Amino acid sequence: MRPAELAPPSRKTLARDGAHVVCLDVPAQGEDLSRVANAVGGSSLQLDITAEKAPAALAEHLSTRHQGVDIVVHNAGIIRDKTLARMSEAQWDSVLAVNVVAPARINDHFVEHQVLRTGGRIVGLASIAGIAGNAGQTNYGATKAGVIGLAQTLAPRLHSLPATINAVAPGFIETKMTASMPVTVREVGRRLNSLAQGGLPIDVAETIAWLAHPGSAGVSGCVVRVCGQSLLGA
Ligand SMILES: NC(=O)c1ccc[n+]([C@@H]2O[C@H](COP(=O)([O-])OP(=O)(O)OC[C@H]3O[C@@H](n4cnc5c(N)ncnc54)[C@H](O)[C@@H]3O)[C@@H](O)[C@H]2O)c1
Repeated sequence: MRPAELAPPSRKTLARDGAHVVCLDVPAQGEDLSRVANAVGGSSLQLDITAEKAPAALAEHLSTRHQGVDIVVHNAGIIRDKTLARMSEAQWDSVLAVNVVAPARINDHFVEHQVLRTGGRIVGLASIAGIAGNAGQTNYGATKAGVIGLAQTLAPRLHSLPATINAVAPGFIETKMTASMPVTVREVGRRLNSLAQGGLPIDVAETIAWLAHPGSAGVSGCVVRVCGQSLLGA
């Protein structure tokens, strides 16, 4: 097993590559958010992306302080796992709201109001559950398939800017989210791939950094799996 990372690597990796990173999370995570933003020399914005006015508030922040945005990474995501028969409406709705409705609204707003700059990049966090589905994750899988759909449908609209949009589909990655899963689910997730171990956030971060790089201008509307050849969706 490789050593675990201590701070969210996608922000560190983008900062390493020269980006000023605006870190965003819900107000309840404000303390951690400031710590991470300081660690990467970036800035922070406390915002619930599901709020009605979130796209406009985010656009206003980025336009007034940074004259727009070059790279948008839709990283926020939640799970509320249950078999479909036991899933409440709230569990279904909340996962849809965070994982796919909010990114779709933000994308639309940024394109319509020219917040995304020429040469811009949008990267959505999908999942192999969005390619293959997964037991107990009908809500989550549907949203992650939606993230892939957003990349495929928005790519032609961004072509004239020009800008790109892609999705990254991680397998089992060692994070707070997977640490909260039951131990058997966790162990199965870790082992069912050709590397026979969980991936690390840095694996996903480097893929995002590649999609954000000027050299990847020819890649749009794609989904890149970062899963060590997981059996799910193989
Ligand atoms: N960890 C994995 O194995 C894995 C696999 C596939 C895909 N993903 C996806 O990668 C992304 C990151 O996952 P992670 O494992 O780091 O999760 P995480 O739970 O560690 O981090 C997700 C972050 O999103 C924030 N968030 C939740 N709701 C929000 C809202 N309404 N507004 C703003 N921020 C909000 C949370 O506070 C949290 O800091 C997610 O989209 C997840 O679905 C993770």
